[in-house]
Amino acid sequence: MKYPKEYLDEIKTRLKVSTVVSKAVKLKKRGKEFVGLSPFKTEKTPSFTVNDEKEFYHCFSTSEHGNIFDFVMKTQNLKFGEAVKMLSNLAGMQPYTFSKQDVERENKWKLYKSICNNFSEFYKNELFTNEKSVKAKNYLKKRGLTGGDVKNFNIGFVTEDLDYYENLKKNFDEEIIRDTGLFYFDEKRKKYISRFRNRIIFPISNISGNIIGFGGRILDDNKNLAKYINSPETPFFKKGSNLYNLDKARKLSNKLKDVYLVEGYMDVIGLSKNGIENTVANLGTALTSKQIQVLNQFFDHIIICFDGDQSGYKAALRAAENIIDELKPDKKISFLLLENNLDPDNYVNKFGKEKFLEISNHKSIPIHEFIFEHYMSQTTESPSSKAVFEKKLREIASNIKDSFVKKYTLEYFLEKLFALTPNINTRFNKNYKTFPKSLAKTKSYYNETKSLRSFEIKEFSFLYILLTKPKLIYENFHLLDSVKLYSDENKQLYSEILNQSENLSKFDIQKLNVDRTLIDRVMNYASVKHIISKNLNDDGKILEIISEIIQDLKNYELEQRISDLESKFSKDLSEDTFKELKKLKKLQKIN
Ligand code: UTP
Ligand code: MN
Repeated sequence: MKYPKEYLDEIKTRLKVSTVVSKAVKLKKRGKEFVGLSPFKTEKTPSFTVNDEKEFYHCFSTSEHGNIFDFVMKTQNLKFGEAVKMLSNLAGMQPYTFSKQDVERENKWKLYKSICNNFSEFYKNELFTNEKSVKAKNYLKKRGLTGGDVKNFNIGFVTEDLDYYENLKKNFDEEIIRDTGLFYFDEKRKKYISRFRNRIIFPISNISGNIIGFGGRILDDNKNLAKYINSPETPFFKKGSNLYNLDKARKLSNKLKDVYLVEGYMDVIGLSKNGIENTVANLGTALTSKQIQVLNQFFDHIIICFDGDQSGYKAALRAAENIIDELKPDKKISFLLLENNLDPDNYVNKFGKEKFLEISNHKSIPIHEFIFEHYMSQTTESPSSKAVFEKKLREIASNIKDSFVKKYTLEYFLEKLFALTPNINTRFNKNYKTFPKSLAKTKSYYNETKSLRSFEIKEFSFLYILLTKPKLIYENFHLLDSVKLYSDENKQLYSEILNQSENLSKFDIQKLNVDRTLIDRVMNYASVKHIISKNLNDDGKILEIISEIIQDLKNYELEQRISDLESKFSKDLSEDTFKELKKLKKLQKIN
């Protein structure tokens, strides 16, 4: 009996693999994973790992691998149903009761699987044994496939004029045979005909390796026939949520972070036979978010490598726009664009694995860059074209679901767009060029006292100079323009000092109306104490130092404002917030 996916998923969501495993194995955290001694083997050094994010465990010494259900089945010798009962209980869920429809669907699924499997086995055998398959065999040979490759991918050939439908009817209900989509009714001949007749067939499996549909290729290219056809959507074959070869590729995800997503069956086979087996294909349909979610469960980096022709480029662009919404922190999607009309299959057969990996490392571009570059190339000098460009990019970014990824993608786009309006931007620049540069020497001094460093100590230094060189500072009063302090006590001291400044000749530390201990703290902790006392008579130097301190205080304020604006921006994504943020970041850089 099959449990609905949602029910099993809920158990998995509620129970981390490490939670389940740690009931039997002592685990230690190591980076993103946990390690422990293998429960499948006696060992002294831990070779057993658990990855909660990827929802599986892996034992390097026995190659045992699986999810929480596999774990309890294997370690406690339970059947799947028993494992589900046990784990749902552990997860605090009600036991699942199957409805009548569930039972029916489950029975259908068993028959469906069985038909697809029979069909595949039968025509695989036909390819090897039927003399009518010679042409197909030669074709596959010509395409560089060995007998091993053919077996590996369970390729078959649907020989003509076989009443396979009649054959199946002996063992299965017609309704379920029709459900598989393998046959269609020919009105003229009044009989069911094999959809894939005279085609080489590529079985498509679900994630667990059960055949659920097929792709079929004709032998001779023929304008009147589609080069490839796929099984139609059936109750058990949903194109948008399956990927060709995912059942095999996913098994590599404990070793590899990347997965290649290609267009065609032959691309998967070509890459795989050249040693790049972490490859899947979408099934002749537009790439869906669902497919990306599935791949992200196993791999951190999806490299989309479609055909290097016009239609491959268009498909890649459409894919980029369809899936950028799904971008998650920690996950990457890149595009590898091949040139000269080559597809991954042609490329890897021509240049080999190493070269393919090399271009994949050096030429893949992240999804946001790909989108930007594409729309940039479509944009002309005209203001309205640029406006369309900006609007489009904003729209794309604003659809991203994860708010952090959304923020940084928009930031990336706007940063690049900013370059398109150089005149508007220089308006901002003018204001900040006048800020003094930091003094290297005092900077290094501050670094020495890093443990003490905070805005408060900086404020102490500022106040210290005011208290020790009041006259000099008041003579250069303009320096104090827009000084901002944060600590309330320090603010109070500062305003007291300013109050006294009206009569410089009578400035007297003792008369300041503040807590003495505050003045003591300023005198003790000001990090500029030594440098000031060394340069007590060098007014120029002291002015330089205080300017620098004031600047640092402003930077501190900037940091605060930038961080406030960043969180505001991630919520409102408004143009004004962004401009303000931009301005402040520029200020920060200049300082
Ligand atoms: P391609 O035509 O690029 O396939 O279509 P390919 O693998 O390079 O083909 P050959 O065998 O080397 O000539 C890519 C994918 O698009 C779908 C199929 O899934 C195919 O693998 N497709 C293509 C169709 O569904 N129908 C078609 O008529 C053509
Ligand atoms: Mn192709």
